[in-house]
Amino acid sequence: MRKHAIALGGAGLMLGISLLAAQAQTVAPTTPPEPPKFDAQQVPTFVGIKDIQEFKALPEYHEPDYVKAFVDAGKLPPVAERLPKEPLVYKTANMPDGIGTYGDVMRHVIGGRPEGWNYSAGQTQGWGGIDIGLSECLTRTGPLFQVKAEELEPLPNLAKSWEWSEDGHQLTMHLIEGAKWSDGDPFDAEDIMFYWNDVLLDPQVTPLNGASPETFGVGTTLEEVDPYTIKWTFKDVKPTQYLYAMAYGNFCPGPSHILKAEHPKYKDGATYDQFKNAFPPEYLNIPVMGAWAPVEYRANDIIVMRRNPYYWKVDENGNQLPYLNELQYRLSTWADRDVQAVAGSGDLSNLEQPESFVEALRRSAEESAPARLAFGARTISYSLYPNLSANGWGEPDARGQAVRELNRNLDFRKAVTYALDRQALGEALVKGPFTTPYAGGLMPPTSYYDNDSTVYYPYSLDDAKALLEKAGLVDTDGNGFVNFPADVVGGADVEITLLATSDYQTDKSLAEGVIAQMERLGLRVIAQFQAGNQRDANYQAGKFDWQVLRNGADLITVVQNTQNLAPTGPQISYNHRAGTDGTQDFLPFEQEMVDTVNSFVATADPAERIELMKTYQRLYTENLFAIGLTQYPGALIINKRFVNVPPGTPILQFNWAEDSLIRERLYVPAEQQSSNELFPDTLPGAPGVGNGPIKSN
Ligand code: GLA
Repeated sequence: MRKHAIALGGAGLMLGISLLAAQAQTVAPTTPPEPPKFDAQQVPTFVGIKDIQEFKALPEYHEPDYVKAFVDAGKLPPVAERLPKEPLVYKTANMPDGIGTYGDVMRHVIGGRPEGWNYSAGQTQGWGGIDIGLSECLTRTGPLFQVKAEELEPLPNLAKSWEWSEDGHQLTMHLIEGAKWSDGDPFDAEDIMFYWNDVLLDPQVTPLNGASPETFGVGTTLEEVDPYTIKWTFKDVKPTQYLYAMAYGNFCPGPSHILKAEHPKYKDGATYDQFKNAFPPEYLNIPVMGAWAPVEYRANDIIVMRRNPYYWKVDENGNQLPYLNELQYRLSTWADRDVQAVAGSGDLSNLEQPESFVEALRRSAEESAPARLAFGARTISYSLYPNLSANGWGEPDARGQAVRELNRNLDFRKAVTYALDRQALGEALVKGPFTTPYAGGLMPPTSYYDNDSTVYYPYSLDDAKALLEKAGLVDTDGNGFVNFPADVVGGADVEITLLATSDYQTDKSLAEGVIAQMERLGLRVIAQFQAGNQRDANYQAGKFDWQVLRNGADLITVVQNTQNLAPTGPQISYNHRAGTDGTQDFLPFEQEMVDTVNSFVATADPAERIELMKTYQRLYTENLFAIGLTQYPGALIINKRFVNVPPGTPILQFNWAEDSLIRERLYVPAEQQSSNELFPDTLPGAPGVGNGPIKSN
């Protein structure tokens, strides 16, 4: 519903302001329009955490015959010795199709490219779930989409249990005991402490998803108690929130026995750059804790991963997981991922680019379709992020600095938002009931979303033009684009660069849509389309005026990566990081956002949390911290031969589907198994054995 109101009735009498400016805000902000009805096609079966998994020793363990052949050949210790004292056991009752069969491969297709294997130092492996498949973290959140709200807390993972001290300041975590990296090296607190001391606390090393010490709270410390026990000390009392921060992306330690030797603190004369690049994609068999380890890389072609013979998770019959022997990652495009999954030459896609929806739906509806396709809730959203730093982040030149100052002007941000026709932006992606205008901030699928606390500026070009003039921008040279005031960069045309990735058609379409709509406003915006890795480097370095970005899980769940909801640390925000002097020059509302998020983390009181998120949402959307564009659902496409697919798995909620699906439990019934394995009967080679996969004989 839209409310129209005349906000400034008598303003026409004010002298010295043009008619346009005087008419500012004839269309008052309101709440977002009702989204078109679009129901999720499947809903999860909600369970408790103990229904999914537990840690316990089983009377016997099993492995695929071909892995047993390595044991028989004396190349691998027996399976019971490779497993921890108490493996993670998945409960059969929570597996939709029960205990599985070994074999087969999941063929992924991705648009990303690997920079190397040093995730801890910020290298991407190309996304699409490669890193999710090879790393394991203290806790796990992807599968929480199926956990009952009243029992919601992260799943134990590398940390198999934990307890809080009486005063709530200390959290003692017990690590899985006796688990090993994929090369057989013991996993223990040394790996955790290396990650804490030499990755997170080292300002020159930033892991891929940007975790920093503040991700776990300002002033938090971590210490080793013994090889299988670690102790956190927090300033707040019982901040259970940080358990979510210990999941994917933030606390997934790398193999310290390999990384340490290259780290500048331990290697004489090594630079941080050398450390980061010490494990290029060609470096194979990087030890992992995940279910599969990389054994083959061919540039612009493929990455192949084989089962980790030391994986520390089993089913209730004692079968060592994963069931699938191999993961393949074709290095192609994200659009090709959709096409191949629908056609059956790929096995999985997160259908997230609306440009592919209609065709994918049509093909999947056919009886003979090789893949299932199920839409979920509207969890995909895009926003326009203005760079809000004016104290040097990214070292802008005079023009860039002038744009930063405009970005910090609320009238300017309001002009931009009023000039956006979100309905048209969405329809340019796909027609039908998919997209809906997005105000920014929290998204409706989270229980914390409150429509009445969401400020939505409806499309009104007149208001936009008036606000631009109010912000001091007028087209002084009559070329159709507004100029800076005469004393700012010589009164030149305002020129704003818009950073976006060229890896996704959707990002490009939205950026182009924004540029066209800004042109109607009289604002010249210039596209800066870059491949994903380059785009990431530029936004991490603050080298952008505006950027169009697909939002992450934080705005959907609130409890996941809560710290990222506001610039709560110097390196945390997408659009406002610390300047050259290490400080953040917050606008007053940003400080309020930060305080609100910190208060949320510090309290466990549900009613208080709900109120805090209402405040957060109002601050965010009213002040346009970032400017929402569009929001729509995605669909999971998975080949029909896979079973144990949890019903209602969203493509993005607590994490991407590649985590939520629990791939280590997926299997292909024997009679449907393909012969697609590229490296049958092989295992990841231990370092020293040579590159690539090794055979038992
Ligand atoms: C990319 C893809 C997503 C998902 C993630 C996993 O971002 O676009 O669909 O596969 O990688 O990290």
